[in-house]
Amino acid sequence: MEAVITKKIFDSDKVRKDFPILQRAAGGKPLVYFDNAATSQKPNSVINAIGNYYKNYNANIHRGLYSISIEASEAYDKAREKVREYINAREAREIIFTRGTTEAVNLVAYSYGRQNIKEDDEIIISAMEHHANIVPWQVLCEEKKAKLKIIPVNDKGELLINDYKKLISPRTKLVAVCHISNSLGTINPVKEIVSLAHEKNIPVLIDGAQAVHHTKVDVRSLNADFYAFSGHKMYAPMGIGVLYGKAKLLETMPPYQTGGDMISSVSFEKTLYNEIPMKFEAGTPNVEGAIGLGAAIDYINSIGLENISEHESALLNYATDEISKIEGIRIIGTAENKASVLSFVVEGLNALDIGIMLDTSGVAVRTGQHCTEPLMDWFGIPGTARASFAFYNTIEEVDFFIDALKNAVRILK
Ligand code: ALA
Repeated sequence: MEAVITKKIFDSDKVRKDFPILQRAAGGKPLVYFDNAATSQKPNSVINAIGNYYKNYNANIHRGLYSISIEASEAYDKAREKVREYINAREAREIIFTRGTTEAVNLVAYSYGRQNIKEDDEIIISAMEHHANIVPWQVLCEEKKAKLKIIPVNDKGELLINDYKKLISPRTKLVAVCHISNSLGTINPVKEIVSLAHEKNIPVLIDGAQAVHHTKVDVRSLNADFYAFSGHKMYAPMGIGVLYGKAKLLETMPPYQTGGDMISSVSFEKTLYNEIPMKFEAGTPNVEGAIGLGAAIDYINSIGLENISEHESALLNYATDEISKIEGIRIIGTAENKASVLSFVVEGLNALDIGIMLDTSGVAVRTGQHCTEPLMDWFGIPGTARASFAFYNTIEEVDFFIDALKNAVRILK
C-alpha cells in the first residue's frame, strides 16, 4: 500500500488543516493522534458553529417567543433533521438527543426494559460489548430476575452466529449488540442479527458508537428497533448523542427522566407527557452539542462517508501489514470484516508501558481493557495497546507509529 494510493481518495494535507489540534506538537514531536475510537478531533466548522451559537443566538429553546430563542430552537430542530437524514430514519421524531451512547442505552434499559422485561425473561448481548452495553442490562436483569445470555466470539473476534441462533428462545425479550467492536474493530453482521431476532418478534438495539462515522448506517434498511451513538466520536462535541427508536416503540415507552419540556400539561393531580421526541428530552437540552453535531454531519458529508471508509481501510490494512512484521506482536481482533481499530499485545511487555513509550514520540494510543473487561478475560490478556484511525490520519503517520513502536519494543525488552 503506497501513500500515493490514499492521496487519490482526498487531499489529506488539506483536510488536516481543518483540524487545529492536528497542528500541535506532543512531547516535542508532531502529534500523531491514533485514539479516535476514544474520541475524535473537531474541525473548525464544528468549533465555529458552537462559537457562533454562543456569540449570536444563545438562548434556551422551545420556551421563548423572542427572536434569538426562536433561532436557537430552529437550529436545534434542524440538527435533529440532519441526524434523521444521516441515518435515514423515517421521521425526525424518532431521533432522541441524549448525552451519548451510554445514556441512550440506559434510556432503553430503564424505559423499555422496565416496562417489558419480566422474571425469567432473557436478554441477549455479545461477548464483545462495551461496558455501556453490558451493565445497564445486567442491572435490569438483577432487578427483574431475568437472565443475560452472551453470544460467544471465536479467536479472531467474530461473533458465532450459530450460537446466537441457539440462544434465541421463547423467553428472549431483547437483543443488544454493537455494530463495530471498540476494542477489536470487528464489524458485526447486524442486519442478519436483527433479522434473526425479528423472526421471533424480538426487538434489537444496536450500539453504533464505533460505526456511524466509519460506514453508512441506514436504520430503515438495518431495520434496527433502536440505534445508539455518540457525537464526540464523529467530530462533534462531547455530551451529545443520539438514540434512534422506531416511533411505534418510543410512543409506548414511559419517560426516562421527568421535568420541563417533556410534559404537555402539569397539575398537582396529574401530568400529561409531551409527544416524542420531547417526551425523552427532559430539561434544558445540550443545544450547542446538537448544533455541533449538525455541523459535524455537514463536514462528514462534505468529505463523503465512502471516501472516509476507503481511506481508513487503506490505513488499517497498511498498519496491519507493517505491525505484523514486528517480532512478538499479536494482533487481537483479526476478523475478516474490520474497521479502523488495531489492537495488539507484544509478547513479554505490558501494554501500558508501550502506551507510555509511544507518547514520548508524540503518538497517542489507548491502552488497557477499553471498557471491555469480559472480552479481555476471554482472550486471557490484561489489555491491549490500541491504535484507532480516522480519515485525517496518514500513511506517513502510520510509518512514524511503526518506527516508534519498534523503538519502544527494543528499549523495553
Ligand atoms: N468507548 C471509548 C473507547 O473505546 C471510550 O475508547
